[in-house]
Order: sequence, then structure tokens, then C-alpha cells
Amino acid sequence: LEETIPSLCGVYRDYFNIGAAVNKYTIESNKHLLEKHFNSLTAENEMKFENLQREEGVFTFEETDRMISFAEANGMKVRGHTLVWHNQTPDWVFAHPDGKLVNRDMLLNRMEAHILAVVGRYKGKIESWDVVNEAISDDATEYLRKSKWLEIVGEDFIAKAFEKAHLVDPDASLFYNDYNESSPEKREKIYRLVKSLKEKDVPIHGIGLQAHWNIAEPKIDDIRAAIERYASLGLQIQVTEMDVSVFEWNDKRKNVTEPTASMLELQEKRYEQFFNLFREYRQVITSVTFWGISDAYTWLNDFPVKGRRNWPFVFDEAGKPKGAYWNITRF
Ligand code: G3I
Repeated sequence: LEETIPSLCGVYRDYFNIGAAVNKYTIESNKHLLEKHFNSLTAENEMKFENLQREEGVFTFEETDRMISFAEANGMKVRGHTLVWHNQTPDWVFAHPDGKLVNRDMLLNRMEAHILAVVGRYKGKIESWDVVNEAISDDATEYLRKSKWLEIVGEDFIAKAFEKAHLVDPDASLFYNDYNESSPEKREKIYRLVKSLKEKDVPIHGIGLQAHWNIAEPKIDDIRAAIERYASLGLQIQVTEMDVSVFEWNDKRKNVTEPTASMLELQEKRYEQFFNLFREYRQVITSVTFWGISDAYTWLNDFPVKGRRNWPFVFDEAGKPKGAYWNITRF
């Protein structure tokens, strides 16, 4: 007999959308959870550059088309992830036919052609796009990440990506998305970047807080300070890739085969605090997406310790609600 529990997105209807990142396997195996509990969908990998345009001008949209149809059939919004990133971008993008590095104009042309094709195909179907992902450095002495985009184009690859995306789909909300978003140092760099884009009238509408968090870090006060700081720019905030690892960052143990009761208790408490905070900021937070669905699959199974499992969500491996689920739905 199917257990009757409240729908997560139903509970949050008056607050913000509740999203899940899916891949071609989990969208099948978690169909019922998705239909019941989530009203927003993100592709975990399928909409990245390397999956959509493996070779120049050769696009493969089948997987993404299917996901978007699934979302449409179930009345779910779609977050597009992601257009311009240093990762999961094929080498040809940065290569010149003569074997040297591509030049600025050619790279900008390729970037804009990609945005035109992808944003254009899904115009009107994507509520928000992560236009530029993780362009800021984690190094205290550096502002922007030393990526090929930065090296070849210069800082304005960011503005140009937003401008192109806006031109192609003027109704989509355009986001800058990053991790370590709550560390005071990186927070100030993200703030600086987005502020400078706004000052130049670049069409940017939101900041994505990836929220790859754990049972101890970041501190709730730092998350609050980050939300406050970003909100002061007058943009929407979306939590885009949330998971709450049961391991502290420096815990690199390999041989943990199931979460202990104390790990789960901490995780429950953390989830409660996070969602209490999100609800407080319902005026600016428009969506909260988990970077997965249930503990049956998470990218954290290999990160940062190869082969180690993790249990970062509010549904367990069998898809049943965990304590964390109850803590975020009873308020
Ligand atoms: O699809 C290939 C497969 O053909 C191949 O045999 C296999 C061998 O390694 O790899 C498969 O690709 C993997 C891919 O996920 C699909 O499963 C890649 O190795 C692996 O690196 C890739 O990891 C993804 C990661 O981004 C790459 O950067 C994760 O699934 C995905 O969850 C993760 O998501 C990112 C966000 O986009 C941005 N923010 C951080 C977040 C977590 O790292």
C-alpha cells in the first residue's frame, strides 16, 4: 500500500518551487517521486555543452527533449543548466583548425552560436538559465577563475553570454550560478561580479546558490549573510544544486558503508535550519532544487573520496521519506 505523505512542492506551494536534478536513468527510476514531490526539473549533465554539441554544429537534443517533455507533461518548470562553463565543454570549442588556440572572435562566435541553438530551441520552455557557471576563483588571491573562456576572450565573455541569451529568449530568467557561495570571501567576489554586470545594464536576473553543503559547513549565519548580500542587488535567488553531505569536508574516511544515527540526526537538524531560513527569505528565493532525488544515487558517491557512498537527500535509497523530510515539511 502506498504511504500517503504530503507532497514536498505542495507544502511549499506558497513559498518557492521545489526542484530535482535528473539524469536519463534517475528520471525513469524515480518517476513517481518526481511527479509527486517536485515542480521543477534540472538536467544533471544532459544540457551541458559536451552533451549538446559534441562536434561543431552537430547537436544532440534527444535526451534533453525527452526531459523537457516529461517536465511539461507534469506541469514542472525547467532550469537550464548550463551554457558557459569551464567544465564539460569539448576541446574543439577552444581549438583553432590549424591546431593553435582559437582567437577571441572565433571563440565568441562559437559561444554565441551555441547559445543561439540551445536557448533558441527551448525558447519559452525554460524558466531560468544558468548562463554562466562557476566563473569565480576559489583562490583568495584571484578574482575570476583562470579558464579558457577568460584567457581567450577576457572578462567580457560573461556579459556577452548574458546578452546573447537574453536576445534569444527575452522571457527567460538569467542566472549566474556558483558554489562556495556562502563563504564570505567568495561571496564578495560573486557580489562584485554581479554588481558590475548590473551597472553595465547586462541582463542578469538572478544568482544561483549551488548549496553543496554538509552536516557542519557552511554555518547558517554565513548562509544568511550571503542571501542578504545577494538580495541587496535586487535580484532573485535560487538554490540550484542542494545536497547535504553526511561527511564534514575534511572527513576523508573511505570505509563507511551506511550513515550512522548521529550523522542522520545532524543532517535532519541542518535541513530544518536551511529550510527555515529559505522560508524567511521567500520574497527573494524563487526556487530550491536538490542535486538529485533520493539517496539511491548522488554524484557525491565519488566525491571527494572515490568510491565512497553518501546519503545527502530527504528521501532514502528506497525513496521513503527520511527524518529530514519530516523536518522540512512540518512547520
Ligand atoms: O557519461 C560518461 C560515460 O560515458 C563514461 O563511461 C564515464 C566514465 O567516467 O563517465 C561518464 O561521464 C560522467 C558524467 O558525470 C555522467 O555520469 C563524468 O565522468 C563525470 O565527471 C560527470 O560528473 C558530473 C560533474 O558535474 C562533472 O563536472 C556529475 O554527474 C554532476 O552531478 C556534476 O554536477 C556539477 C554541476 O554541473 C555544477 N556544479 C557542481 C556539480 C557537482 O560537481
